[in-house]
Amino acid sequence: MKITLQRGRLETFTSESAVAFHFEGDEKLQRDTAAMDRASGGLISEIIQSGDFKGELYQPSLIYTKETIPAKRILLMGLGKRSDFNVDKWRGGASRAAQFLRDKGVKEFSLCPYLRGERKISLEDFSQGLVEGIYLGLYQFTEFKTEERDKIKEVEQVHLVTPDEKRISHIQKAVDTAEIISKAVYLTRDLVSRPANRKTPSMLAQIAEDVAKNNGLRWKTLNLDEMKKLGMETLLAVAAGSREPATFIILEYKPPTSGLDTVVVIGKAITFDSGGLSLKPSENMDKMKHDMGGGAAAIGIIQAASQLKLPLHLTALIPATENLPSGSAYRPGDILKSLSGKTIEVISTDAEGRLILADALAYAQRFKPKAIIDLATLTGACIIALGENVTGMMGNDDELKARVGRAADRTGEKVWELPLWEEYEEQIKSEIADIKNVGGRPAGTITAGTFLKKFVGEYPWVHLDIAGPVWADKDKPYIPKGATGVGVRLVVQLLREWKGNL
Ligand code: BES
Ligand code: ZN
Ligand code: ZN
Repeated sequence: MKITLQRGRLETFTSESAVAFHFEGDEKLQRDTAAMDRASGGLISEIIQSGDFKGELYQPSLIYTKETIPAKRILLMGLGKRSDFNVDKWRGGASRAAQFLRDKGVKEFSLCPYLRGERKISLEDFSQGLVEGIYLGLYQFTEFKTEERDKIKEVEQVHLVTPDEKRISHIQKAVDTAEIISKAVYLTRDLVSRPANRKTPSMLAQIAEDVAKNNGLRWKTLNLDEMKKLGMETLLAVAAGSREPATFIILEYKPPTSGLDTVVVIGKAITFDSGGLSLKPSENMDKMKHDMGGGAAAIGIIQAASQLKLPLHLTALIPATENLPSGSAYRPGDILKSLSGKTIEVISTDAEGRLILADALAYAQRFKPKAIIDLATLTGACIIALGENVTGMMGNDDELKARVGRAADRTGEKVWELPLWEEYEEQIKSEIADIKNVGGRPAGTITAGTFLKKFVGEYPWVHLDIAGPVWADKDKPYIPKGATGVGVRLVVQLLREWKGNL
């Protein structure tokens, strides 16, 4: 799909369909909508007056223009009540319009990238939001469909049309940014959607290498010997039950400017989590291919950061392995020595995420980062606590957490903080080792966070538990059901606004 920006007016622009927006309860039409209404001899006001179209949130209505204007159709898209309007609804409106036209078989359409006269949202935010909405909403995972591929409907061309010549370069910049971010989300969604047999830890390393080569990143994967030598026993223990070797992927985006802040992003990449010997029930086990959503997000984030040329030194660390039961698997009761030197008693082999993250968190300290951000599908308990749409946030630095909160508000990726009070440490004390990997049922997400905290040292750190939002069971306005790519837009926004010390 191509999205191009040009100067012009929607009412005189030739396309298969123009898109016009309308707020519920508004007496007056939106400026672009009004211009199209006038040019078409009142086709839009007619349908509103008839009561068939009210402008309710995401209500569509298709009008055939019968050559009154050069666009063959006008898709009217409702945005709900003006007083409830925000960028997230705008993304949703753009997405729902694009999806509606795609499903009708329309391959090309035109729209204005912002609402003229609506001052609550900046021109840049409007334009970025619209392009993100279109891309994210039109995502489809079709890699493995070999039959009836001609039935897959796709939009080929979107024309962004604006009469505003003076600010066209600002708009173009926002469009470019949205495109980079959306493509990073696509990459992450593709990786998460793919089944475990098509994304083994070695394949993931290969994909990371391709991303690195295409974007001028430094790239390294630690092999088994290197991991053994370093003492990454927790990662190797989780991998022991699988015939697929673990990989520890390191991607580095380092612009030539000196003195830039270093940020490390860590992503849990269990390419399949069967639970190991603490085997999960078979119902829904297929979903556990998404247990590498954090790692996939880390790859997307570093791709976007480098393409946006952010003034930062960013490192992505991705410990990748399967978690399978076998004669060589690690066992409940085993004691492991992590890279940090701490010993861990394994209570459940299904609490494997925190084990591989322990080694990655210890490794992150080599970079002396200004911040460490980890993303992980870590606990089912997080879904119980916050629901499927919300990322659980924990951390040791108030300013860093506040920045994540602001990025969440801007991107619409919901984040809610859970506490890491000292008293939770009681639950993960081991009788015979330094710490154990399970703290019982109460506050399961927090005890996992408390476990991680033991491995970050003094560095500012935030942990994002994305177990809920990594996968959508139902379609949402601009997130089709399936892999969501959660975390990419959030962390990229955080990094775009990065400034100085915490
Ligand atoms: N990958 C799972 C967490 C998960 C569950 C993510 C459901 C997404 C949906 C993780 O490795 C795990 O199995 N956690 C256990 C921890 C328990 C053994 C303390 C869990 O949540 O049950
Ligand atoms: Zn598990
Ligand atoms: Zn897991």
